[in-house]
Amino acid sequence: MYHYKHAKSVVEPVPIEQRYRHIRPRPQMPDFAAEVDIDLSRPLDEPVREELRQALRDFEVLFLTPQELTPEQHLELASVFGPVAQGAYFPRKDSHPQIEVLANDARRPASVDHWHSDLTWLEEPPAGVAIQLVEIPANGGNTAWASMSKAFAALSPGLQEYLRGLRATHTWEISQWRNYLANLGEEVLLNSIRRFKPVSHPVVQKHPQSGKEILYVNETFTRNIDDVPPQESREILRFLCEWLKQPEFVHSHRWQRNGIAIWDNLATQHYALADYWPHSRVNQRVTFNAQGSRAPVANTLAEVGGLGVESRVAYGY
Ligand SMILES: [Fe+2]
Repeated sequence: MYHYKHAKSVVEPVPIEQRYRHIRPRPQMPDFAAEVDIDLSRPLDEPVREELRQALRDFEVLFLTPQELTPEQHLELASVFGPVAQGAYFPRKDSHPQIEVLANDARRPASVDHWHSDLTWLEEPPAGVAIQLVEIPANGGNTAWASMSKAFAALSPGLQEYLRGLRATHTWEISQWRNYLANLGEEVLLNSIRRFKPVSHPVVQKHPQSGKEILYVNETFTRNIDDVPPQESREILRFLCEWLKQPEFVHSHRWQRNGIAIWDNLATQHYALADYWPHSRVNQRVTFNAQGSRAPVANTLAEVGGLGVESRVAYGY
């Protein structure tokens, strides 16, 4: 019989000893958010690379041993999980433009304190991100991840079935990204409207690698449920976007300097806590695409003429 308290637990947790021979993931929650000890100063063998991919499928976000990474090592790490993308929308490291640098300090307050997964307004959003925190505040500045497989599994069977039949429209235009682009200039905003139109995605997606069902709406980019009355769309979205924030689905990660995380951008949403102003926090991130994706994520900011232009709005998104 369905019982929602049971549905919030994991019925058959991943048997780590049987599945892993080369790494030993330590999940921080049942089947979610695993720490992995690994030395990235040497090339990784293929069996280790395959187990890292397995761990990302099983645990959705991984935290690797904090260590110095050269830009080449960072790119190499991301490439374990999928073809490296040209980045998305943040400023770039001059020497390695596939590495985005997101720096926050007294002058540039943090602004990604809202739940989302990256670029869901593209037809094919990126598969994930490999991020390193090269500068952290003394306290605070956590990143929280929420498991969208857990959030979906805990819904009642009747609601799950209803949601499986729905699609939803995603667009950057309802996010703070619009404000950011507007500050880059009217032409950049108009180019963006022309180039990145709203897209429709299923509300429930089957993860192509893990097979898990994923709840796929977020409060930052999901504008409406398609083909239902507006009031139903609004209330269902409001319910789902509150539902997915339950502590049973969320791991809040406290960073160490040079800490590294890999997240699955389909299976999770994330939220960067903005509680450390006026202190500094700097992260470097490399985005990777799905294996064999048809339309790999390009440099969205360059496509609309916004790369290299400084916005007065601190990333705005
Ligand atoms: Fe993000």
